Amino acid sequence: MKKFTTVADIGPLDKAVSEALEIKRDRFAFTDLGKNKTLLMLFFNSSLRTRLSTQKAAMNLGMNVMVLDVNQGAWKLETERGVIMDGDKAEHLLEAIPVMASYCDIIGVRSFAGLKDRNEDYEERVLQQFIDLSGRPVFSMEAATRHPLQSFADLITIEEHKRTPRPKVVMTWAPHPRALPQAVPNSFAEWMNATDYDFVIANPEGYDLAPEFVGRAIVEHDQRRALEGADFVYAKNWSAYEAQNYGKVLSQDRDWTVDAEKMALTNDAAFMHCLPVRRNMIVTDDVIESPRSLVIPEAANREISAQTVLKRLLEDL
Ligand code: CP
Repeated sequence: MKKFTTVADIGPLDKAVSEALEIKRDRFAFTDLGKNKTLLMLFFNSSLRTRLSTQKAAMNLGMNVMVLDVNQGAWKLETERGVIMDGDKAEHLLEAIPVMASYCDIIGVRSFAGLKDRNEDYEERVLQQFIDLSGRPVFSMEAATRHPLQSFADLITIEEHKRTPRPKVVMTWAPHPRALPQAVPNSFAEWMNATDYDFVIANPEGYDLAPEFVGRAIVEHDQRRALEGADFVYAKNWSAYEAQNYGKVLSQDRDWTVDAEKMALTNDAAFMHCLPVRRNMIVTDDVIESPRSLVIPEAANREISAQTVLKRLLEDL
């Protein structure tokens, strides 16, 4: 594997999940693979899980790891071409990328959507510059439109916990006070669409995701109807995708909060969320703390998805 930014990069999902579960059984089986190899993790945005799980995964493979928070301690980076750099940004990505690449073997990048210009976000301008200019394998640690390490961990978690071969998976929008990108729901939809699961997306009017991510999913604007018979409930907030309202919060309707009454409509569904989560906005305390909540094993599987991806990137160096 030369890069990892979408579900297409990982190949057949059954093989990827088998490999991940093999790694999970013995995560130190490949400690020689990363010897004398260096991972550079670059964060343009904050992180808890991605930072720690990816670093741990790299250490499990014997890699050296460097982490740079671009907005804390480094020169502020300009990402747009042709800009007169008379502001607070001291260095351009065009120089910074090849310089950083000269110090490492693999690069992970986290760069969220700006939520101001839909075209700019959906062109993945920052991530793409790393792919084009670094000469190194690049993987996404959440980019403007996708979060594939999260989705891979989500898939592993569903495969571990499913009680039927083709579960009904419902991804439901839930309220949040701030505008969040569409990367996690886009990516989850992309990965679910690559399975044979029964996949439903529930969101209020005005919150439909981009058609290329919705794919074969059934879109429901009635959350309760969507949840009927669900085996997995995946809650997430996202801001509007539609052009006229792109990046806006149109609703904070707490009638969309996932609570015990909603979960009672399901087939004793497991509850999932990528975290961090706003309690009693996205999900009530009793649901996230219930025995059917998978949020902690789901987060733990981030180490496994990252290690599987890094292993494949190292094998192809
Ligand atoms: N789910 C996830 O990516 O968490 P962090 O933002 O903390 O990395």
